[in-house]
Amino acid sequence: GSCAVVIVAAGSGQRLGYGVPKARVPLGADPMLVHAVRGVLKAKVAAQICVAIPAQDAQLVDICQQLSNEAQAAGVLFSVVDGGAQRSESVYAALAHIATGITTVMIHDAARPLTPSGVFNRVAAALRDGAKAVIPALAVVDTIKTVIPATLPATGAGVEQVVGTPARSQLRAVQTPQGFELETLRRAYAHALTLDDQTAAQITDDAMLVEALGEQVFVVQGSTHSLKITSPTDLLLAEAMLEGPLR
Ligand code: CTP
Ligand code: MG
Repeated sequence: GSCAVVIVAAGSGQRLGYGVPKARVPLGADPMLVHAVRGVLKAKVAAQICVAIPAQDAQLVDICQQLSNEAQAAGVLFSVVDGGAQRSESVYAALAHIATGITTVMIHDAARPLTPSGVFNRVAAALRDGAKAVIPALAVVDTIKTVIPATLPATGAGVEQVVGTPARSQLRAVQTPQGFELETLRRAYAHALTLDDQTAAQITDDAMLVEALGEQVFVVQGSTHSLKITSPTDLLLAEAMLEGPLR
């Protein structure tokens, strides 16, 4: 079947602190969104690319016009939609614009502009092999603790205490693009609309919604180059990766 890639680029980039939407922040010579879209085109996995941008961002509209030309030249349908206040709302808005005939979809962060073709290809291969949901991930290098609020005995100072240490060998740090059978992801989002706000706030990736349906979510190897640019140090690292020696 044919695949659409949704690129969510409607965030404001608060933590990067550039004062402009993150998708527009330059990485090397080009805005992050340009790298992200070209990465999808290079991987040759998409019949359609659908980008969610902040509503009425004239500069991103201009950037998308140029990217639309590049996509068209590669025979890829290119759509732009207004994103929402939450990432999940941006994904949901994009899902309404998936073209007829598309059967699978990958949801990808514009904030992961250096994702290698290999990652897109591994996700696409798992979808072809019958996975209804597949996510790229890496082994976790830090030991992860579960904590709850606590107070120090002598002073009552507010801190946290450990309640558990999940086995690190079973933990994975999850990335995008996350791939889904389109019908399954649509069903997962329809179910998500019924969740209360508190539960909805704990949804941090698309796969969680599919897990909630009881569907099997498969994992393929991610990449260190798929890092999400969140803070200024991430941007420094991405610039270094772009320069070459780490590539
Ligand atoms: N995103 C989106 N719509 C939102 C929020 C986020 O499309 N309402 C996208 C971002 O553009 C980004 C991806 O989701 O590509 C991951 O989000 P994150 O790294 O948190 O980006 P921002 O929300 O822009 O950053 P911050 O949370 O620091 O403001
Ligand atoms: Mg955010």
